Amino acid sequence: MSNDGVNAGRRRFLVAATSVVGAAGAVGAAVPFVGSWFPSAKAKAAGAPVKVNVGKVEPGQQMIAEWRGQPVFIVRRTDEILANLKKIEGDLSDPESKASDQPAYVDPENRAIKAQILVLVGLCTHLGCSPTFRPEVAPVDLGPKWVGGYFCPCHGSHYDLAGRVYKSQPAPLNLPVPPHSYESDDVIVIGVDQEKA
Ligand code: FES
Repeated sequence: MSNDGVNAGRRRFLVAATSVVGAAGAVGAAVPFVGSWFPSAKAKAAGAPVKVNVGKVEPGQQMIAEWRGQPVFIVRRTDEILANLKKIEGDLSDPESKASDQPAYVDPENRAIKAQILVLVGLCTHLGCSPTFRPEVAPVDLGPKWVGGYFCPCHGSHYDLAGRVYKSQPAPLNLPVPPHSYESDDVIVIGVDQEKA
């Protein structure tokens, strides 16, 4: 009796699973047609701004948002982190971000609108891997001079906690700062410039 019940349940599951696959196939086949009918709507959706509430990000911590299919790193920097940024400028490739990608309204050295809140596109400027957040000071694997930053796991590029790349790394430039603005004290809009907010 109980075996029959299990088997009947399995059959129902198989039927249901098959239906789902069939439906997914139909949706997949329909996508190219929808895309060709409404290309501008699709392009608009891909680039839509993203609102992020950063109120719960603790000092020294990072959250990751997504914008245009890319990770966006948001870090609440402490006074200690901001002070350390100045101490390492001699070790950086582009400390004032002259060659790097960031909006004009961002401070070129700490690379933020409000110094405490760092916003970066989280893709290495070498070949596009996503660097790892390493905020610790002097961890064993990164050495005694490490004051916190990002480490790219693909080919080892080092960045500081402003996304600025160190000298002699595979990555040529600092991590990009995306266009962004503040809607309120805690809400950032990624994809909308500060001037237009
Ligand atoms: S992709 Fe980051 S170091 Fe190569």
